[in-house]
Amino acid sequence: MRTVEWHDGCVRMIDQTKLPWSLKHVELNQSAQVVDAIQRMVVRGAPAIGAAAAFGMALAALEFTGTDPVELQKALQRGADLLKGARPTASNLEWAVERMLQAARNMQADEVGEVQSRLIELAQQIADEDVAINKRMAGHGASLIKDGDTILHHCNTGALATVDWGTALGVIRSAHRQGKRIHVLLDETRPRLQGGRLSAWELAQEGISFEVIPDSSAGHFMQRGEVQVVLVGADRVAANGDVANKIGTYSIAVLAQANSIPFFPVVPTSTVDLSLSDGSQIPIEERSPDEVRAPFGARLMPDSWPVRNPAFDVTPHQYVTGIVTEHGIAYPPFTTSLRHMVELSRT
Ligand code: MRU
Repeated sequence: MRTVEWHDGCVRMIDQTKLPWSLKHVELNQSAQVVDAIQRMVVRGAPAIGAAAAFGMALAALEFTGTDPVELQKALQRGADLLKGARPTASNLEWAVERMLQAARNMQADEVGEVQSRLIELAQQIADEDVAINKRMAGHGASLIKDGDTILHHCNTGALATVDWGTALGVIRSAHRQGKRIHVLLDETRPRLQGGRLSAWELAQEGISFEVIPDSSAGHFMQRGEVQVVLVGADRVAANGDVANKIGTYSIAVLAQANSIPFFPVVPTSTVDLSLSDGSQIPIEERSPDEVRAPFGARLMPDSWPVRNPAFDVTPHQYVTGIVTEHGIAYPPFTTSLRHMVELSRT
C-alpha cells in the first residue's frame, strides 16, 4: 500500500480524514488541489507531505501549456511557493520542493515536454527513496527494541505518514516481523487523533498488540514501569538535535527522562535542517481553533470561546537519548553526529 503515488497522470493518495472507518483514495490532477489536500490533512506526516509536494510540482509542470522553458521555470517557482506555504513546520515539504526546483533549473532541456517527464520521474524517485530510507531506519531502530518490550508512541508515524512502511512505526513493524513480542501504547494524539485513528488502524492491520491511551495518561504508565522505550517521529530537527514533532511530544520526553526511559525520535535526514542552529527557530504551525472546539464535527464548546491550537512543539535535545536515521543512530553531541549523518546522505 502506498499512501501517495503517481497514477495515470494524477497524484493518488489515501484520504486520511476518512480513516479508520473507510479506506478511500482521492485522485488529484492540479497542483492547487495538492496544496489543499496538505492543508486539510488528507495527506499528512512529514515524509508523506514531502512526496505529495514533489508530485504537486510535477502537476505544476504539466499545467504549463506554453513552449518556452524559461516561462516554465517561472510557473514552477509559483507552484513551489504555494506548495511550500501549505504547512510550515515539516522540513520535508521544503526539501522535496527545492529538490524538484533545483533539478528543473539544472536540466539542459530545450523542450518543455522533456522537463515535464523528467520531473515526474524525479517525484517518483523521491517517493521510492522514502520507502527504502524507512526500511533502513527500521533496521537500525529495531536493535533498540527487546523481546517483551512495551513501546510508547505518539501521533502517527507509520506507512500513512510516509510513502510506505513508516519511521517510528516502521521500527515497530520491523521489530514485530523479526518475531519480537512487543506491545505498543498509542497516545490518541489530540486534537486530530492521529494515534487513535491512524496508528491503531495500521497496527491492527499488522497484527501488533496495542492499546490506545489518552495523551494525559502517558506519565501514569511510565511511572508504573509499563514502558521500556519511547519512539516518535519528527517534522524538523535543528542542527543541535532539538526536535519539532506533534504537539505533546515535549511533555512525553520530559516524563520519559523523569522516569529513566530512553526517548528516540526516528528521523530521515531529509527532516534534519542544519540551517537552524536550535529549535527556537523552527516555525510552529497554529491550526484552526475549530479542530479543538469541534473535533470531527462534534461541537464541544461555543464558537466564541478562545482556543489555542499549536500543531507541534519542540523537545530540547537534552531530553533526546538518540536519533535514529537511515545511516545509523546519532547520539549526543548531536551537532557533530547529525551533521555526519546528513553528510553521509550527500555522498
Ligand atoms: O500534523 P501531522 O499529522 O502531519 O503530524 C505528523 C507528525 O507529527 C509526525 O510525528 C511526523 O510527521 C513524523 S512522521 C513520519
